[in-house]
Amino acid sequence: MTRRRAIFAVLGAGVAVLAMIGPALGEGVVAYRVVDGFSIPEPLTAAPGDPERGRAVAINRRQGNCLSCHVMPIAEQPFHGEVGPSLYGVANRYDAAELRLRVVDAKVVNPDSFMPAFYRTEGLHDVSEAFRDKPILDAQQVEDVVAYLMTLTEEQ
Ligand code: HEC
Repeated sequence: MTRRRAIFAVLGAGVAVLAMIGPALGEGVVAYRVVDGFSIPEPLTAAPGDPERGRAVAINRRQGNCLSCHVMPIAEQPFHGEVGPSLYGVANRYDAAELRLRVVDAKVVNPDSFMPAFYRTEGLHDVSEAFRDKPILDAQQVEDVVAYLMTLTEEQ
């Protein structure tokens, strides 16, 4: 092998290794930027959120479980909690960037909030092993929930 070919072989092997670990790294949490402690303007994913999927995530007890604390226009579900404010008309009160921060980490806005941080991993100590170092929702689910919240324009 000439020296030049040897260099290409090494480079090629490096690219192959990167291609293998790339997807594994991709499963981690997407970095997000909070602006003025009030919003996250950049979506977490390239694909736009899907309001139908977001509604399902909000209902799911093992995912958003938003209904345990919020009254929402989801009539087929019997129980709606009232720990948090009603989410009727919430899209009139906040834009998508502000809603995104509230879903990602409501404690940035209100450090005493009872609302779980759905997309934060640092400082989660009181959680079961299965959830340690893992956000409750993945990046796409956050975007889906935000897209769903943006449809809530009707006041109750
Ligand atoms: C354990 C209770 C709890 C759960 C679960 C919860 N929230 Fe909340 N949420 C609150 C409380 C309490 C507030 C009031 C503000 C604060 O304390 O942060 C709030 C505030 C909000 C607000 C701002 C509403 C306003 O009018 O100011 C939005 C939007 C919101 N929650 C969305 C959600 C979504 C979406 C989910 C599910 C993915 C969810 N919440 C799950 C307790 C909860």
